[in-house]
Amino acid sequence: MTDDTPDAEAVRPDGGGTEATGADTEASKTPRADGGTVDDVALDPWGSSSVSDYRRLFEEFGIEEFDEVLPEVPDSHYLMRRGVIFGHRDYRPVADAMRNGEPFAALSGFMPTGDPHIGHKLVFDEIVWHQRQGGDAHALIADLEAHSARGLSWAEIDEHARDYVLSLLALGFDPEDGTLYRQSTNREVQDLAFELGSEARFSEFQGIYGFDGETDVSHMQSVVTQMADILYPQLDEPKPTVIPVGPDQDPHVRLARDLAARMRFFKVTEAFASFEADDAERVLLRRAYDAREAYAEEPDRPRCGEAADWLRAEVDPSDARGSAVEKLSEAGKEPLRPRTRFFARQATDEAFDALVEAVEGEKRVYDEHVDAFDLDRETAERLAREVEVDHGGYGFVPPSSIYHRFMTGLTGGKMSSSVPASHISLLDDPEDGYDKVTAATTGGRETAEKQRELGGKADECPVYELYAYLLAGEDDEFAKEVYDECVTGERLCGGCKERAAELMAGFLENHQEKREEWEAKLDEVDIDLDSDRKRA
Ligand code: TRP
Ligand code: SF4
Repeated sequence: MTDDTPDAEAVRPDGGGTEATGADTEASKTPRADGGTVDDVALDPWGSSSVSDYRRLFEEFGIEEFDEVLPEVPDSHYLMRRGVIFGHRDYRPVADAMRNGEPFAALSGFMPTGDPHIGHKLVFDEIVWHQRQGGDAHALIADLEAHSARGLSWAEIDEHARDYVLSLLALGFDPEDGTLYRQSTNREVQDLAFELGSEARFSEFQGIYGFDGETDVSHMQSVVTQMADILYPQLDEPKPTVIPVGPDQDPHVRLARDLAARMRFFKVTEAFASFEADDAERVLLRRAYDAREAYAEEPDRPRCGEAADWLRAEVDPSDARGSAVEKLSEAGKEPLRPRTRFFARQATDEAFDALVEAVEGEKRVYDEHVDAFDLDRETAERLAREVEVDHGGYGFVPPSSIYHRFMTGLTGGKMSSSVPASHISLLDDPEDGYDKVTAATTGGRETAEKQRELGGKADECPVYELYAYLLAGEDDEFAKEVYDECVTGERLCGGCKERAAELMAGFLENHQEKREEWEAKLDEVDIDLDSDRKRA
């Protein structure tokens, strides 16, 4: 879709509405004939990871709006309330588990390519929050990925890994209750990666990541490793798992969801007759079934052949109609009747037999599937998972994800680890942090008079972002006050930056003190921070 609304939505000062802004954080824009621009929203995990139009992620990639699940999240995090966490895939099962006190997990990973900065803090905070909500929390150092995809040496990786771990701990991660690991030394992750690799095709990697004949094999191994990371929290038992990441990681999430499904013993679907149907055909079969009163000689026993005639007469031609009609005609006198189908995917014969045995009520057994007439979908899913787990399968629940916005750089444009002035490192001296904030670009007007008259552009202001993403912390009122005072012209940039700079310096000081405390007891924490590897 080419629309003319390239604007990102604003980060909200509080739980209020969203406003459109002109905040463009992205460098790559293609000029258009009509003078507008088309923003590049390709999601590339190893490319430039900035997104200028979050709305298109919903339309083009099927990411769902976070706001839609927000009311179901108990004691939501402020990043959720302020729209910093803007999107998700399938977060509902995680929120449900949280509310019902059932097991759930959270996991994210960090490539140790530089110092951890305030952008990483968002993800650290998300992991810690899920841990405090009762989740089984995991954080990993993506050292294999950093080595293979970014070419970092093991010595560099060790140094950065340590810094990530210390900041995560300083921000409240409980290592006793949670899991920390690095990809290279986690044997279970490597084993799982190998298993998942047998369900992933090179042609998919080409399609998803643009890999080609020149891509090195270790890079591919780092991808299956990430797939294993994402499913690792479910090794002991299947459970809803959320992966908090930036939207650039969405291709990985989608692939992991696919692989999780491919590993399952049974695929549970809705069916209407003995033959197999795809999703599009199934929609038509459902329609034909629902309309049975209109055409069936015995409406409580509609026949496939009758449904075929009805579809041909009543539904616009489409590929799905063609094939559905064909299948229905072939089935002829067979009754059209809804049922829940268990299709044997990876199931052993034993598991299949056990499933057949376990299905209650009327059932019909075929070569590769069993149809159950008295089971609802949810019960069927539960049964399929139980039988799978009992027979040595993983029974993976498809992993969920939540996506946060990328922070704007302090100098405008993108926040980048390689441009020190654009970001604040969690290791920056508090004075340097102070100076960077006072030197930041703002959304202010050229003169104080204009600012008083027109108000500042908080939605385009990296300093306002600092307040909303970090400095205001839990205090929604404070974030809202900054916003309101800014846009009404009450607040001037000098004082506003001064206040932000003080808060930033205070945050850094406090954070670094906690890092030092953890540094002293780092050997109690179960993670290996020395790679014993040859130079490579
Ligand atoms: N690929 C991620 C990055 O570039 C790091 C990562 C590795 C990761 N494994 C993961 C992130 C699992 C989330 C979940 O930063
Ligand atoms: Fe940004 Fe503060 Fe200036 Fe508003 S007053 S534009 S929030 S620096």
